[in-house]
Formats: sequence, C-alpha cells, structure tokens
Amino acid sequence: MTISASVLAPPAVPTGAPARDGGAAAPTAPACAALTVVLFGVTGDLARRKLLPALTRLADGYAPVTPVRLLGVGRSEIPVDAFRAAAGLDGTGALEVDYVGGGYGDAATYERIRRRLVAARPGGGEVVVFYVATPPEAFEAIVENLGRLCDHVRGAGRQCRVLIEKPFGEDLTSARELLAHVTRSIRSDELLLVDHYLAKPEVRQLERLRIVSDRLAGRLDRSSVAHVQITIAETLGVDGRGGFYDRVGALRDVIQNHGLQLCAAVLSARRDVSGRATSWPDRRLRALEQLSVDTRPDGTHAAVRGQYGPVPGSFVRAYADESGVADGTRTETFAALRLRSSDPRWAGVPVYLRTGKRLAQAVCDIRIQLRGAADGATRPGRAEGDVIHVSIKGDPFVRMVTGGRTLDLASADPALAQDYVHIFHSATVGERGTFPDHGEMLRSWEIVEPVIREWEGGGPVAVYPAGSWGPEEAGLVMAGSHVWSRPRA
Ligand SMILES: NC(=O)c1ccc[n+]([C@@H]2O[C@H](COP(=O)([O-])OP(=O)(O)OC[C@H]3O[C@@H](n4cnc5c(N)ncnc54)[C@H](OP(=O)(O)O)[C@@H]3O)[C@@H](O)[C@H]2O)c1
Repeated sequence: MTISASVLAPPAVPTGAPARDGGAAAPTAPACAALTVVLFGVTGDLARRKLLPALTRLADGYAPVTPVRLLGVGRSEIPVDAFRAAAGLDGTGALEVDYVGGGYGDAATYERIRRRLVAARPGGGEVVVFYVATPPEAFEAIVENLGRLCDHVRGAGRQCRVLIEKPFGEDLTSARELLAHVTRSIRSDELLLVDHYLAKPEVRQLERLRIVSDRLAGRLDRSSVAHVQITIAETLGVDGRGGFYDRVGALRDVIQNHGLQLCAAVLSARRDVSGRATSWPDRRLRALEQLSVDTRPDGTHAAVRGQYGPVPGSFVRAYADESGVADGTRTETFAALRLRSSDPRWAGVPVYLRTGKRLAQAVCDIRIQLRGAADGATRPGRAEGDVIHVSIKGDPFVRMVTGGRTLDLASADPALAQDYVHIFHSATVGERGTFPDHGEMLRSWEIVEPVIREWEGGGPVAVYPAGSWGPEEAGLVMAGSHVWSRPRA
C-alpha cells in the first residue's frame, strides 16, 4: 500500500537557492546579469553528456541568468561552426557558442581566450566561470594560466569562479599538493570543487527526509537507527576506459567523493550539539571529521575489494582482460566498507558503503534501517524491519517501509533543477554549499587513506561474477546479524 504523506508539511529545502527547473515555475534565485562559461575539455564525454545540455537548459530560460555564453576550449583548432555542429549546438537555442583551440601549456591559448572575453561583452556585471573538465593530468597547466585570466576578469568588473571536476588528487598527499598548487594561482574564494552528487535533487532533499522522519520515527540518530547502507552500483564495466580506470579503482573513483558525501549528508545533524543551527557545508565537514573506516579485531580495516569476472558465453570480459588494464592488475572494481562515527548521536550505528561496476542493477540507494515502529515511538528490542529508503538514481523517491506499508515521504520534486544545471546556477549566484569545500575534500582522502595503504600492502582481491551484487566476501564487513540489502529493480 502506498500512502500519500503530503500532510507531512514538507519544509523548505534548506540549502542554497531552491532552484526551480522546468515549466512555468518562477525561479527564486537572485538574478544575475550574464554568465560566460569557459569550458576546458569541451569535446569530452562529460561535456557532451552533462555540461552542454545543462548550459543549454540554463540559457533556454531556467533562471534569470541571461544571456548564457559558452566559450569551449580544446586542444585542436576547429572552426566554430564545425565545433557547434559536432557538439549538436547548432539549433535555435539561446546559448551563445564560441570556441578556442590551443595547447593548455601555451600562453597564446589564454591570450586568445582573454581577447574573446573582452570582445564578447564590454562592461561589467557578468560572472565568468572557468570550468576544468579535462583529465586530471591537464589540471595543473590550466590553473597556472588561469590566475592571470581571473585578474583580468576581476579588473574588468566581472566576477570570477574556477570549477574543477573530480578526481582532485589520487591520495591525501597529492590532493594537498594539488590544492597548494592550485591556490597559488587561484583565489580560494573563487575555487569550487565539483562533486555532482551533492547537487542531485534527492541529496538536496535529504534535509527534508530528516525533518519528516523525526516526526515518523523519532530522532534520526542512534535512538532510532540500527544501521545505514549506501549502495552506488553500476551495471557497466570500464566502457573502453580501462587505461584510466586501472590507475584509479572504485575506492578513489567513487567512495572517496560521492560515497563519503552521501554518508555526510545522512549523518549531518540539523543542529550541532550546542543546539546552534549551522550551514550545510559546515555540518557535512563535521560529519566527515567524525567518520572513519572501522577496524576488525585483528586491526585490519573492515574493507573488502573485488574485481568483476567474465560472463561465460557472453561478450562480457573479466576486468583483468579489458583493454588498457595492466597484466596482473589488482585494481578493485568493487569496494565495500564499514564506517563508524565518533559523534555520540551515532554511536554504535554502522554505516555500510559499497560501490561497484558490472553489478546487478544501476542504483544509488540509501537505506536507513530503523529500530522502532512507524508511529513515532522508538521501541528498543523490537525486530528490525522498518526502513527509510532513499533512491537517487532512475526513479528517485524517499520512502518509509513499515509493517508492510509504504509511505512516500517525499517523491522527486520535478521542479528541482537537475545536478549540473544546479551546479552552474549555484556557481553563478555564489551558492558555495553546492560544492564540497577544501576541508571536506581533504578529510575524505584522510578517511580512505588507511585503506589505500592497507590494500597497497597486499591482501585478497575477490573475483565476483559480472551481474551479481559483488563478491560474497562483502558480507565480511557487516557487523552482527546485518546483511547487505538487495536494492529494488
Ligand atoms: N565523464 C563523466 O561522466 C565524468 C563524471 C564525473 C567526473 N568526471 C571528470 O571530469 C573530467 C572530464 O571527464 P571526461 O570523461 O569528459 O574526460 P575525457 O572525455 O577523457 O576528456 C575530456 C577532453 O579533454 C581533452 N583531453 C583528453 N586527454 C587530455 C590530456 N591528456 N591533456 C589535456 N586534455 C586532454 C580532450 O579534448 P581535446 O582533445 O579537444 O583537447 C577530451 O575531449 C575528468 O576529470 C573526469 O574524471 C567525468
């Protein structure tokens, strides 16, 4: 049975502009005169699938950000008309499109960008976003040259932001070094790190979940929660990118950023222990500071890694046989961890986090397993069975499953902007809460660092059948009688 929970009086979405997307809904974000996005890596996969559609949406009237101009940057010299056609941007949309080609280590490239910025719009009032969407090896050369461009943008009375895609570093040391390097050229207040999971509408609605669940199940903390399970599962393999993936693996690619951000979003309390309301980024950072990978009695970490095997008789190859992957690779395509928080409000509540490629279903799922019943009373000792279930991928929803009934706590709000639209909008209006701050990024590396080092030192890599839920050994991270859930189809 599905019960509408509209009577639960959903509160306002607390962080940033509750940006409206689609239809006639009036945008509530502050107006901005104009936006120019200088997009490095404009010919790439991320640009094609996410960034260009989001900019098109923004330009076509999503918010009072107008006009919106794209200055794409790539290493090849391409006539702008050819670029527009290749990128599918030669329609009648409102997005203004330009293109600059040139090497990222070549000062002439940045001089060409500067001239285009001057020529496009004399006068001030504009926000210029430099968006770095290239593979990480190009980051340093680009940011070294962006410092002068930012000076120029500011000197012309415009605002400047620099957005950098993940991965930011490959471990704690390299992330610190990269941050030091980047902030030598880029002002900290103008630097925004992108983790698009934080911009997903359902993650932005997790605050709503907390308030609603307080009414239904008592406080969302150790008094009512038995454990939390987060699953970020893909059905695809490395998709022709074995050379890139083999240097990264699931722990760095997904757990360090998206996975830990989801943990922080669930655990971050609305108020700190002194009862003061704090901002969402502050609470996320605090949650991360209190989070660590749990250890087993033998001192090793409660962490399991795996690699997908072949599907016999099908075209699906084992990870180890994918092109670009090193002989004898030990890179994990699956990782499962048990984390714990030192926050007294979450004492004794394990947080299980897993991710993998070639799993049974593509899902992003948060399951908060409750101790008590649905009537608001906490009943220790009662059989665990009630669950708050947040689905972030595919068919998003926030539900409570209790005593055989399903309560829709919050369904996907179609008026909330999709992730990359929200990212561009937040960058334009200066809503920093949409982006992990530098402390969050470094702390996330600190959390996974001991596991990186332990795995470098050896230990098993379990092979799992493609299309399964990962290796059986993933169960070894569970405490007590807990078992991994089987997310819905
Ligand atoms: N793809 C995704 O779904 C996704 C999701 C989250 C984060 N990211 C991150 O976003 C960034 C871009 O991802 P992507 O998948 O779009 O990358 P990509 O397709 O491999 O590369 C983007 C563009 O960068 C240029 N490029 C490639 N190799 C380069 C190199 N060694 N040096 C300088 N430029 C190079 C190429 O453009 P030109 O040849 O035209 O210069 C390429 O079209 C990466 O940091 C990635 O980790 C991607």
